[in-house]
Formats: sequence, C-alpha cells, structure tokens
Amino acid sequence: MTGPPLTWRGRWVVASAIFLVNHINAAALSDEINMASVDYSKVSIEEKPLYTPPLEEVAEVLSEGLRKTFEFVNVTVEDCPDLTREPFDLTTPGLSGDSKLVELGGPPYLTPQVRRDKVYDLAALLRHLGRDPALLAGAGAGPWPHLGVNCEGIINLSVREGAVTQGTRVVSVTPPGAAKGQASYLQRRLPPGETRTALLGNYLLSEGRPGRVLKVVVEKRIGPSNFITAIRETLKERYGDRAVGLGGAFLLAAGKVKHHVMPDFSASPLCSDEDVDRWLHYFEMTAPIVHLGTLVTGDLGLDLRVQHFHGYSAHGDGGHYHYDTTPLEVRYEGYFTLASSVIRVDRPLETHGVGRD
Ligand SMILES: *[C@@H]1O[C@H](CO)[C@@H](O)[C@H](O)[C@H]1NC(C)=O
Ligand SMILES: *[C@@H]1O[C@H](CO)[C@@H](O)[C@H](O)[C@H]1NC(C)=O
Repeated sequence: MTGPPLTWRGRWVVASAIFLVNHINAAALSDEINMASVDYSKVSIEEKPLYTPPLEEVAEVLSEGLRKTFEFVNVTVEDCPDLTREPFDLTTPGLSGDSKLVELGGPPYLTPQVRRDKVYDLAALLRHLGRDPALLAGAGAGPWPHLGVNCEGIINLSVREGAVTQGTRVVSVTPPGAAKGQASYLQRRLPPGETRTALLGNYLLSEGRPGRVLKVVVEKRIGPSNFITAIRETLKERYGDRAVGLGGAFLLAAGKVKHHVMPDFSASPLCSDEDVDRWLHYFEMTAPIVHLGTLVTGDLGLDLRVQHFHGYSAHGDGGHYHYDTTPLEVRYEGYFTLASSVIRVDRPLETHGVGRD
C-alpha cells in the first residue's frame, strides 16, 4: 500500500519519535556507564612505602642538583601559602596530612586499544580508601563518558564530611575529530556531580591541610631536562634505590611550554611510541599555567608512571606538560609534599612501556 505523503504533523511525530528513541538510548547508555564504573572491591589495590627523607635535606639536595639544569635555583622549606588563592586555585588550602601517591590504571588501558570499561569514580575511591577530609590533585585522562570524547583531566577534587568539591578541568581537542595541525583545544570545568575519570591517573592524596612544603623556584633553563625530570633525576641520584615520591603544584610563571592534548580514541591500534606521537595533538601554551601531578624516583615493582603533570590556566591553555620551549625566559614556582607511600589501584595485568612520556 502506498499511503499519502507525510503531512507536516506526521513528520513532526516521526521526528519526535526519533528524538525520543535517541535520548532514551543516551540515558540508558549513561546509566550503563555509571553502573560499569570500576568496583574497587573487585580490583587490585596495593600499597608500598616510599622513603621520606627530612624536607630540609631534600631542599639542600635540590638546591645543589638543579643548578645543572637552571641558572637560578632557590629551594626552601616553607609553610604552604594558601593554595585556594590565585593562581593555584586548589580546592584545599594546603597539600599536607597523610600524603600518599595514587596511581590508577595505566597506559595499557589506552593503548594499543582503549578499555572503555576502565571508568573510575574518584569520590567512590576516596570512600573506599576511607579518606575524609581528602584532597586528590594531579594528572590523568578525563571522563570520556561525560564529554563523549577522550580528554585530558586536571584533577582537583576534595571531600569534607562527605561533601565533594569538584574543581577538575578537562581539555579536549576541538572540533572533535579535526585533523592534526587543524585542531585547537577547549578547556572546561566538570559539573559538581561528575566525579568520574577514566583509564589512568597519577594523583597526590592528602588531607589538604596547611603544612611545611618544599618551595622550588627556578629560572632560565640551561640543561636538557624538563622541570620535573630535573627534580626526579636529582633525587634519584641522591637516594638511589630508596624511592622518593612527591606531589603538588607548580606554576609556569613565565615562558611557553609544549603540551599535548589527546584526541578521541584511535580507530587503529597504537602499538609504539611513534604511533602515539602521530596520534597526539601538540600545542605551544603560554604562562601563567598551573600544573598538578606527581613524580616518583623508583618503580617499586608496581609498574608506575614515574612522572605526570597536567596544566590548567584561567586563559584556557592546558594539557599534558612535556617541556618549556623558551628556556631563557622560563620561570617555575612549585610547592610539593613528600608522600609516605604509593597506592596502586587496578594495575594492568598485561603491561608495556608505550605512551609514558
Ligand atoms: C629564596 O626563597 C626564599 C623563600 O621564598 C626567600 O625568602 C629568599 O629571598 C629567596 N632568595 C632569593 C635569592 O631569591
Ligand atoms: C580547583 O577547584 C576550585 C574549586 O572548585 C576552583 O575554583 C579552581 O579553579 C580549581 N583549580 C584548578 C587548578 O583546576
């Protein structure tokens, strides 16, 4: 039977039905994803101690060692300035109180092929670890189910008496799917109720209290290492097999840096660092940029990512920190706390060394 052509009213009904079906699917899908966020009682959680030398000694070691990389170096032990203030803008005033490093998942959940089941709720993680009050701050993938595409996360979340403050930013390539070299990036803040993240992350976990911290100020880079590598290598040289870990925030106060922003997941498997490099989008970004993350001088047999910092700025620049591109102009100002252990959450059983830069 061939009916009459659809009237406008008929078309509207059909369009509405399609709209409804799409939205019901989207709602069902997001529920499914919520349900699927990793159940912490079913994955491995391992904890190993780190060596914690006296802060004053670490300050001396860095004062000496960083001179190979920077012309001006000033490392001191200070009371943490109020980090809720600009430019740091954290969710808690300090970095101290039962400080530990947390590493979640890992690059093997991103490459060669994405594991979409690796979605982690960070508020649930803090509850599982019994941490309240707590600050989680650092670098990782952002929650792709929220944006609908893969993204960078600058994690800045705290909890106090059960109430979560979510200040996490995500940065994604825009427009999504744009070719490398023709894309830009977009930084957004997650809404208060979105406490998920995905795939991998390196965070400082503490009570976020004021306390004594390392203050590291350097200017004018004269060596090949980036700011964080220079700190890590200096500590490694001094402490050897006694692994030292720290986390916190550093401000790129002057100069420019090379960051990457992950585009959406690759349709073809990423099997080598060259594949990852071809897939990532790189951008030069401008100070001031606040970076959050962690470093550790040893692996402890936990398959750790030894350094990882992501940046955020009020002017929209942000992503994964690689190195500065203006060595003569650069100025860094960092605040770090030593961690007493590493908590390794859901370590990938099959691992590889790809994508750890
Ligand atoms: C080094 O840093 C301390 C603490 O911020 C400051 O009091 C001191 O003046 C600085 N020294 C130099 C040479 O800038
Ligand atoms: C951290 O969260 C606070 C509070 O939500 C927000 O004001 C601040 O801009 C965030 N900072 C960063 C570095 O994302």
